[in-house]
Amino acid sequence: AAIEKGGYEHFMLKEIFEQPQTIYDSFRGRLDVEQARLTLSGLDAIQDKLLAARRIIIVACGTSWHAGLLAEYLIEELCRVNVEVEYASEFRYRNPILDENDVIIAVSQSGETADTLVALENAKKKGATVFGIVNVVGSSIARLADAGAYTHAGPEIGVASTKAFTAQLVVLQLFALKLAQLKGTVSPERFTELVKALHAVPEQVEWILNNQLDRIKEVARKYRGARDFLFLGRGYNFPIALEGALKLKEISYIHAEGYPAAEMKHGPIALVDEHLPVVFIATKDPFYEKVVSNMQEIKARKGRLVAVVSEGDKVAETLAEDLLVVPQSDELISPLLAVIPLQLLSYYIGVELQLDVDKPRNLAKSVTVE
Ligand code: G6P
Repeated sequence: AAIEKGGYEHFMLKEIFEQPQTIYDSFRGRLDVEQARLTLSGLDAIQDKLLAARRIIIVACGTSWHAGLLAEYLIEELCRVNVEVEYASEFRYRNPILDENDVIIAVSQSGETADTLVALENAKKKGATVFGIVNVVGSSIARLADAGAYTHAGPEIGVASTKAFTAQLVVLQLFALKLAQLKGTVSPERFTELVKALHAVPEQVEWILNNQLDRIKEVARKYRGARDFLFLGRGYNFPIALEGALKLKEISYIHAEGYPAAEMKHGPIALVDEHLPVVFIATKDPFYEKVVSNMQEIKARKGRLVAVVSEGDKVAETLAEDLLVVPQSDELISPLLAVIPLQLLSYYIGVELQLDVDKPRNLAKSVTVE
């Protein structure tokens, strides 16, 4: 087993550390940076359907649903088409209004999640076109889909998803970019900018893994006894706040909530006291100033602030007790970086608490029954 883990103590840590490679693998062969060319053959296969679609519906569960939520922001911004994100378990029982003008994107690591699978079967019966973003080659969802793109993250053993999630984000970014190009809703300059930003990600993840570990371990030690955690972010980083909270719950059994940073005033702020760690994603993007003012609101109520910030940040530094630094990137790409310290934070808190991080209690890697 030690050999399988490649010298790492757990599969989860190994898989977190594989991300510079798996992120690269998910765009390798699809992205030509020099020529600013992007190939996603699965998308070509349903191109006419996509261009005619009134809306795109993303269906998924768990961590894959978080990737889908981020894709809603991305696709709407870049492609100017309506996107809805649905929990498969809700969607399948709602008798959703669908016809041959709808395109469904299914996001699934295993390709075997029962609710997602049945939701897709129902959608296909109503004439909708299904595009699968799946990790496991030849899985049920991959076979059911009319077209798709594999995430190429390799086998994921840790029950809590890490490298499969970042690979899903990459493929969804490629999908959004490609569709935007086809629709003519992105300028060639912006396209090139985004392609370059994506191409830089593997090295930037490597930088986080090389430079932030000690700090993350320190924060994990400091807060391992917390009863609750709050994770807050806005815009493209709201789904990352949700994912940060989910990871912590799964691995450490500490109660955590992810919330849109401004929406916390409508409830979660009542939980804030000198014991509550509040993790902000406060990277440099158009939401930054707003996030900083949300941080001030938490600080005024004596919450313990931890912030994921961009390299060189000077403002958040004066507010947060602990900073987890990520390299600067484009706002559309930067969530790929922001999630890495959050994965590591959950991992190290789980390890501090001596829990079975690779196989948390009650969870299954793939939920094949409803
Ligand atoms: C389970 C796993 C999660 C995963 C979810 C969806 O709950 O523990 O890690 O995100 O299922 O699985 P899928 O394979 O469809 O992405």
